[in-house]
Amino acid sequence: MSLEATLEELKTSALRRIEAASNLEELEVVRVEALGRKGILSSVDMGKVPAAERSGVGKLLNAVKTELTKELDARKSRFESAALQARLEGEWMDLTLPAGGVRPGALHPVTQVQRYLEDVFTSMGFAILSGPEVESEWNNFDALNIPPTHPARDMQDTFWLEGGNLLRTHTSPVQVRGMQRLGAPLRMIAPGRVFRNEEVDPSHEHTFYQLEGMMVDRDVSIAHMLFFMKTLLREIFQRDVTVRLRPGYFPFVEPGFELDIQCLICGGSGCPVCKQSGWVELLPCGLVHPNVLRSGGIDPAEWNGFAFGLGLTRLAMMRYAIDDIRLLNSGDLRFLNQFR
Ligand code: DAH
Repeated sequence: MSLEATLEELKTSALRRIEAASNLEELEVVRVEALGRKGILSSVDMGKVPAAERSGVGKLLNAVKTELTKELDARKSRFESAALQARLEGEWMDLTLPAGGVRPGALHPVTQVQRYLEDVFTSMGFAILSGPEVESEWNNFDALNIPPTHPARDMQDTFWLEGGNLLRTHTSPVQVRGMQRLGAPLRMIAPGRVFRNEEVDPSHEHTFYQLEGMMVDRDVSIAHMLFFMKTLLREIFQRDVTVRLRPGYFPFVEPGFELDIQCLICGGSGCPVCKQSGWVELLPCGLVHPNVLRSGGIDPAEWNGFAFGLGLTRLAMMRYAIDDIRLLNSGDLRFLNQFR
């Protein structure tokens, strides 16, 4: 066989093997065998080729080399782009999927009720105020028509602090701060944490939440007060709740009332939360005592108003049917996780 024919055959077989290679490694083997320094093409000994044929054989060798190199490169880049494609597909991720395993925090049930009520009152034109948890004796008691010798001081077991201050026993002192700051007319609520030195049981905590409300204007009547109380209860419970109004005594209002709702935990039949009575005291209220207006720098001859003190913690218990107040401050995640 002539050298030309041999080379032609080598080329054909190399091309077939290039075509048959199924990955980069196999392709490299073919390249080394055909074009490598010890490969088939390099083994042609030009010294043995007759001088007259040398240039023809040289050209042919170069042509074969060029063609094989071209084919090898083409095949190689196809393998490489297939590999890249496979990698891209393997590493693809859906950035729109929600992240797994993330557990965001959530608002405490009392906070949820508080935020809801803030919306309700803001929509009725009330400002949201806050006051300090460490209060002066004057703001917590005297300014609210409870002088030092008044028996009503014993109604609220107080945590006294050194220097005559105390942990506020109710949110009512914020009324005084609100009147002093904003004057009349006034519509305000003051949600917040309060403290009492009480024996803890399913319905009593030393630390709980109230929401104080006050409206001061000209000629405010009990009818106005009842309108706001009813609106409030309808918004809170999103349904009709059975209520009863009793006379109640609070030094800072005259007349004063206790607005009770029928217990939503037991439906009125009696349970630990309502102390077996079927009723829960929820909304003490009344017309603001003239002395309290005076403490706030407002002239009772010109202005009057109503005030109420909503038990926020108790309300949250009613709303979510929680039968033990101690769960709320327990930090127990099994309990809290139900309110996400
Ligand atoms: N401050 C009272 C308490 O904690 C609740 C209260 C009663 C507030 C009557 C009021 C009110 O504004 O008018 O027991």
